Amino acid sequence: MSEAWEELKRDCAGCHACPLGETRTKLVFGVGCEDAEVLFVGEGPGEQEDLQGEPFVGAAGKLLDDMLAMIGLDRSRVYIANVVKCRPPHNRDPQPNEQAACRGWLDRQIALIRPKLIVCLGRIAAMALIDPGFRITREHGQWFERDGRRIMATYHPSALLRDPGKRPEAFMDLREL
Ligand code: SF4
Ligand code: URA
Repeated sequence: MSEAWEELKRDCAGCHACPLGETRTKLVFGVGCEDAEVLFVGEGPGEQEDLQGEPFVGAAGKLLDDMLAMIGLDRSRVYIANVVKCRPPHNRDPQPNEQAACRGWLDRQIALIRPKLIVCLGRIAAMALIDPGFRITREHGQWFERDGRRIMATYHPSALLRDPGKRPEAFMDLREL
């Protein structure tokens, strides 16, 4: 790991810049290949992630792994992070002040990874990274350009667990990669 990554992880590890820092069990920094071509960004840690300190390790994570496998990818070849690094209590949406407080960590991750493509998993990440007015049902699978980088959003794996009928659309989105 480069010195810059070590420094970023060290800086982030003790973060209490927003109230989520008070209620977390473990901070969930992110995992994967540190010079990945594709970065996936979720919303925030859930219960299992909070306990284990790793993103997407619960039921939604299993589905994400399956979807990556379907397009010939796996966790070791991409990077996976979240908009907020600490679990919102009861899995509520992260609030604007929490997202704003946490944004610098994600921006520093993006600056180090320099991914070619970013895929937002779900509405919260899409609103944070593509457009505050993003409409996931209408705009999933479309490419946008932000900071000279191609970025799209697809359905969050948790949404696909609740509504399996959306899975073919999500698969088509990921095939775009
Ligand atoms: Fe810090 Fe982000 Fe955790 Fe808030 S959610 S305490 S800003 S790391
Ligand atoms: N949902 C997310 O958005 N991120 C995770 O890490 C796990 C579930």
